Amino acid sequence: MIPVKNEREISVMRRACKITAAARALAGDMVRPGVTTKEIDKAVHDFIVSQGATPSFLNYSGYPASACISVNNTVIHGIPDGRVLQEGDIVSVDVGAYWGGFHGDCAATFACGKISAEAQRLIDVTRQSFFEGVKFARQGNRIVDISRAVQSYAESNGFSVVRDFIGHGVGEHLHEEPEVPNYVTPRRGPRLVRGMTIAIEPMINQGTVAVRVLKDGWTTVTADGKLSAHYENTVLITDGEPEILTVTEGL
Ligand code: CO
Repeated sequence: MIPVKNEREISVMRRACKITAAARALAGDMVRPGVTTKEIDKAVHDFIVSQGATPSFLNYSGYPASACISVNNTVIHGIPDGRVLQEGDIVSVDVGAYWGGFHGDCAATFACGKISAEAQRLIDVTRQSFFEGVKFARQGNRIVDISRAVQSYAESNGFSVVRDFIGHGVGEHLHEEPEVPNYVTPRRGPRLVRGMTIAIEPMINQGTVAVRVLKDGWTTVTADGKLSAHYENTVLITDGEPEILTVTEGL
């Protein structure tokens, strides 16, 4: 069963998601040469806690940090550590906050100092692929309509769509139904109904689609060592325009 949120639950999710989006923005502002990924993680943690919320990822299936910070060829689930960010890096930051019984989940890839034109194009296409997909996040459509739009946009720009990880419903649980792939699958997926809240999160590679998980069980890297970018928002299905919940306005 896909959870459908009532008005009260949606108000709570709005706040959880604003906290999450503000944590993403704060992390993005910290991305510059010389900063360690652990420093960014600490700032994310302390901000979320200062808002009376809990970092959704900390201890989730044993995950050891509040943010996932994935640099360059790391696709997702990079574990913050003493790595010092360098000029030219691209840095994906994924955060989640739990407030009032509900989670928000969002991510973005940030440029560290001056980056190559091709790296910037990967970031821009990844972000835009989310916005192409979210246009179809409307009552009556199916999940596959979102997936198709994300995939067509990314692939028509010469990039590849990661298959091994997908978006998901988000609410009382960080991961709940429905599955939200960023590529077309034989199953069209369920029809969308107002009150559903989903995380649409394209993970887009510069080279081939293949990814590999390192021995730490989390860090997911591109098999060919090329760059990868990520962009995610939590989105509410309404009876009209989709509402992106992970926005900072009004926190
Ligand atoms: Co997610």
